[in-house]
Amino acid sequence: MDSIVITGGNRLNGTIPISGAKNAALPLMIASMLTAETVTLENLPDLADVESLVRILTNHGVDFQVEGKRKGQAGQMGRVVKFTAGEIADTTAPYELVSKMRASFWVLGPLLARCHEGRVSLPGGCAIGTRPVDLFLDSLRALGAKIEVENGYVVASAEGGLIGTHFKFPKVSVGATHVAMMAATLAKGQTVLENTAREPEVVDLAKCLNAMGAKISGAGTSTITIDGVEKLHGCRHRVLPDRIETGTYAIAVAMTGGDILLKGAQPDLLQEALDTLVRAGVTVEPTNEGIRVSRNGTDLIATDMETQPFPGFPTDLQAQFMALMTMAKGTSHIKETIFENRFMHVQELARLGAKISLDGQDATVEGVSELTGAPVMATDLRASVSLVIAGLVAKGTTTVNRVYHLDRGFERLEEKLSNCGATISRVSE
Ligand code: UD1
Repeated sequence: MDSIVITGGNRLNGTIPISGAKNAALPLMIASMLTAETVTLENLPDLADVESLVRILTNHGVDFQVEGKRKGQAGQMGRVVKFTAGEIADTTAPYELVSKMRASFWVLGPLLARCHEGRVSLPGGCAIGTRPVDLFLDSLRALGAKIEVENGYVVASAEGGLIGTHFKFPKVSVGATHVAMMAATLAKGQTVLENTAREPEVVDLAKCLNAMGAKISGAGTSTITIDGVEKLHGCRHRVLPDRIETGTYAIAVAMTGGDILLKGAQPDLLQEALDTLVRAGVTVEPTNEGIRVSRNGTDLIATDMETQPFPGFPTDLQAQFMALMTMAKGTSHIKETIFENRFMHVQELARLGAKISLDGQDATVEGVSELTGAPVMATDLRASVSLVIAGLVAKGTTTVNRVYHLDRGFERLEEKLSNCGATISRVSE
């Protein structure tokens, strides 16, 4: 299994291009199942999660082609990819495929909307918490679906099609918002969804669905209204830049010191995280080309942070921010409010010399003057990258194992960092 080996101590200087957002790419790809015509996605990131989803979509009969290349050719996960679901060949999403990535469960929305049936494996447990599916099922039931859970599968049907409804989510969920919104595009009549997720990826999906002929308004607010249409058509859509990748590299340069242009990044996608970095003593400047982040000579200031749904501080940047706070002057408090078990990076950061204590959802980080390299590993994507960030300043060598977690969500991570002066490489065993 591959590992990433880092020798800490180099400042980061230069330009890092920001990729298309993983969390937008996945629902956009799934949305292509809603039409028999071709949905062309530009700026699709080359990631293991995108590849896993391609496998699932292929199983449902979705054809995909990289623009200018034929299926199966090397480099097929290029930047512009066409998805065509001429016919849905199979309405079952099997355990072997769904268990690899939770978001693949989201195919249930388009299957119900277009085929009026779907049999999708429950996604199962997850390293960062129990992550139930009640909100998905309740909203789809409100749209008229009959749903049973049998032998680990959600078996859903909507004879005659889904019907517009008024549904208020008891809790904000990004995935359940995506799915209910996709399902409602082809329902009869109007659907009003309340307490919806306001994440930029929801807005991006709504934009793409509208380009496909859907009638959605209010995406980006807590109430989304969808007027059902009979049919959707193809479109061409550009995936928005990855705000988590942006925040991760911003935190990396905050940690090492230096000056980086995050090319193509959009500040409005992560304003709260950028404001938090400014409070921590980091310089953040929006430019025509993206966001410039620098820290030159100033100390890092201990800064409290609490994760919240958008527009709050994203849970997907919590681990990285905690890594940063391990080197700040003073004591900071970090609260995780979205997932109940998202502190797995804490004991690994401790192996590098960090001083962190946990009390339920609260972490107290006491800044230290130095981290020291060690072998570490992590059990999820964002935790893994927090260890890479810590490794960039740790004295000596840090080896991050289980690299497949990083490959799920960070495109060309080593290349992007080494181009800016980091000593980082991938080692195959
Ligand atoms: C998405 C993101 C993930 C991010 C998360 C929160 C993708 C592919 N993933 O995950 O990176 O960390 O949003 O910003 O976009 N919940 C329920 N019942 C449900 C569904 C969710 O209780 O039916 C709970 C979850 O356990 C969690 C909270 O709601 O505590 C938020 O989860 P949710 O927004 O659904 O996360 P995902 O969409 O899975």
